[in-house]
Amino acid sequence: MPIHPATDDAIAAAAEALRAGELVSFPTETVYGLGADATNGRAVAGIFAAKGRPQFNPLIVHVADAADAVQLAVLSPLATKLADAFWPGPLTMVLAKTPDCPVADLATAGLDTVAIRVPSHPVARALIAAAGVPIAAPSANRSGHVSPTTAAHVNADLGDRVAMILDDGPTPVGVESTVLDLSGPQPALLRAGGVTSEQIEAVLGAPLARATGAEDRPSSPGQLASHYAPRAAVRLNASQALEGEAFLAFGPTAPSHDGPTINLSRAGDLAEAAAGLFAALRRLDAMGVATISVMPIPNTGLGEAINDRLQRAAAAR
Ligand code: TXA
Ligand code: MG
Repeated sequence: MPIHPATDDAIAAAAEALRAGELVSFPTETVYGLGADATNGRAVAGIFAAKGRPQFNPLIVHVADAADAVQLAVLSPLATKLADAFWPGPLTMVLAKTPDCPVADLATAGLDTVAIRVPSHPVARALIAAAGVPIAAPSANRSGHVSPTTAAHVNADLGDRVAMILDDGPTPVGVESTVLDLSGPQPALLRAGGVTSEQIEAVLGAPLARATGAEDRPSSPGQLASHYAPRAAVRLNASQALEGEAFLAFGPTAPSHDGPTINLSRAGDLAEAAAGLFAALRRLDAMGVATISVMPIPNTGLGEAINDRLQRAAAAR
């Protein structure tokens, strides 16, 4: 069993494994990551192999702070302003690579940009510090599956592919980081996530452009239409569940259902709903139903990230 409580000793052993080119799963504030030394091309190749991930889809590189980020990427004044506002935390910025950027080309899929994130989770931060290298880490699920918010989720998807899984309980935010492209003339939202568009717009003082990549060539290569997919079909905007369906409900006015039901937040709290979203999809999927029907969820704040993930879970495969 590769799951280890995230003690100081376990974090030190995980850092050692990373430096030796092995894969380690660790908690971040968003979801569990599948980490490798970002400067080691062979180790990074192991991430793609373990996940079954297409190699055109680049990885996020995790560092300790903005001072470490500037070793890898060029931070414009605007990027620095956003880093000051949201790092450490669930904001990933796509930035131009520095000329001597040590990140393996495979991690950036050969692009001249690199996605940088400074996580706030204490275990992620301790691991980055102990490893002493930037850590490339996608979500620790098989490619296209639902992202993991517990160590048990990671174990179910990738337990036989990792040296260690550092366990620190459920991840608090529950949806992945917001990915913002700052490599062009205007910032563009590539993926809604744990920092809301409203929060970013408040710092920018302007509305945020949403990148609209064509489906076969998304501007954020990971944003394929079908993603985050449970085995069951997903039916969105359901006012109530039909007989035989599982029901993913939201809010105080949810109708009752005579079948498997999870209410993401009886109080109608979007942060609570985001935190429980992926675990709920996995639990309802494990009940063996053909269809999970989902109530409408407001598209403001964290609702934008929740609806993005639900739409991808529902997309034709
Ligand atoms: O919360 C998170 O971001 C988690 C935790 C583990 O940190 N990580 C995560 O990684 O969600 P992943 O690989 O599942 O998603 C990375 C996203 C993908 O959509 C990818 O296409 C995009 O970031 N991305 C990475 N590098 C990029 C680049 N240079 N240009 C455009 N998009 C990029
Ligand atoms: Mg992912």
